[in-house]
Amino acid sequence: MYICLCNAISDKHVRACAGQGRCSVSDVYKARGCQAQCGKCAKSIRAILDELAPQP
Ligand code: FES
Repeated sequence: MYICLCNAISDKHVRACAGQGRCSVSDVYKARGCQAQCGKCAKSIRAILDELAPQP
């Protein structure tokens, strides 16, 4: 499912970035060679990253 329509970033892309140790929203954009445009996806990307973050 696409999370970022502006840059065609899917939830799989976000999960792949998290699996490589990338953990910020901007790192997800960088990994895809793009940057935020409208910014509407940032909250959804952050939610996936938080879901995958190691628990203390
Ligand atoms: Fe991601 Fe617009 S939906 S920058």
